[in-house]
Amino acid sequence: MKISVIGTGYVGLVTGTCLSEIGYQVICLDIDEEKITRLKEGIIPIYEPQLKELVIKNQEAGRLSFTTSYAEAINDSAVVFIAVGTPAREDGHADLSYVFQAAESIAQEMKDYKVIVDKSTVPVGTGEKVKSIIQKHYSGSFDVVSCPEFLREGSAIEDFMKPDRIVVGAQSTKAVDIMFDIFKPIETEKISTNLASAELIKYASNAFLATKISFINEISNICDLVGANVGEVAYGMGLDQRIGSSFLRAGVGYGGSCFPKDVSALKQMAGHNGYDFKLLKAVIEVNNDQRAVVIKKAKEALKSLKGKNIGILGLAFKDNTDDVRESAAIDIINLLQKEKAQITAYDPIATKNAEKLISGIEFSDSAYAACHDKDLVIIATEWPDFKELDWEKIKDKMRNPCVVDGRNLLDQNKMREIGFQYLSIGR
Ligand code: UDX
Repeated sequence: MKISVIGTGYVGLVTGTCLSEIGYQVICLDIDEEKITRLKEGIIPIYEPQLKELVIKNQEAGRLSFTTSYAEAINDSAVVFIAVGTPAREDGHADLSYVFQAAESIAQEMKDYKVIVDKSTVPVGTGEKVKSIIQKHYSGSFDVVSCPEFLREGSAIEDFMKPDRIVVGAQSTKAVDIMFDIFKPIETEKISTNLASAELIKYASNAFLATKISFINEISNICDLVGANVGEVAYGMGLDQRIGSSFLRAGVGYGGSCFPKDVSALKQMAGHNGYDFKLLKAVIEVNNDQRAVVIKKAKEALKSLKGKNIGILGLAFKDNTDDVRESAAIDIINLLQKEKAQITAYDPIATKNAEKLISGIEFSDSAYAACHDKDLVIIATEWPDFKELDWEKIKDKMRNPCVVDGRNLLDQNKMREIGFQYLSIGR
């Protein structure tokens, strides 16, 4: 079976590559010519473990190809995945223009039955709109399906190959059968729903996970007030299987290209349909406020931050990625700049992307150099590498041995034994 994937961003490239790895003939399309030329040469625009190797391997095996031509991509494909971007507009709504443009271009090339699969995260009702766009250009039979992705950056290949579930929202059993057949080699629970439910499952899942994070962050703030330890509280809560232990890590709040955008899109979507989603408003507010908790702790330690030399460890929105979109680290740096602090930042791989977003700070190419001669070091990203640093050596080189650990990454007893003034979140 030949499959095409429209859009070679994060989701499209992972989807196309993994489907070719499973054994399908996959053609990936992007309207960005330079990107396609580079992909043909095995140059990957994003950092994602295993992705480059798989792109090269499957291109060499002749199962994966890249094009900018809709005619070439659509021609004899039985299934077309739409995986283009849906950035958040100023007002929080998802911008669907790329999805609709893709639908239009696909429709113009359609000559026989195809399943058009929406992989992009889109508001409820988008599948119906895609259907009506295609109907304007093509009068034959076809199906539109929603098959949301649940890929995490840094483990996207694993998440695709070993997902917790596969959701197929469709209007015909023919389309469901085709989709279940495609994913037959992947062992997991596969559910079929109507289009709207599948579209909502994606938003509801991300919003729920974001809610868990904001919840534990509020608990961490209470922990600070009553002398409890949020790590212990989260562990005790997580043992209840109804709650589960994941996504209960307190810290500086969530970031990235999905949670902030999806939570705000769901809130907007609810409002648009006449429903006030009060809980999500609070989730967003708590997340924004959480950035400032580190600043408060830094002030507790140094009184004023004006003119103080501060090292920041971590720029990415989480570990194992070079993505800095909506990163808490960037927000924290902005807040520190308002306090007129002097900042030196280090990240194992995200510096290049961060340089595009922030100015007026120094970027360092080593964690040790970023901590050298500093009044305070803030851990802003949960890179496991930071645990492995020689903290005794760092202490000796700091002007004032003080660490604010915004990710609760380090062992607090050990840090205090070494001689640090060590502050963390809710413990
Ligand atoms: C997320 C979803 O997990 C994935 O299913 C969806 O398809 C895309 O959005 P991703 O954005 O890659 O994936 O990151 P994720 O690992 O979910 O983390 C999101 C943010 O939450 C990060 O900033 C992370 O640091 C933060 N986080 C996560 C916490 O603060 N605490 C936690 O317990 C977990």
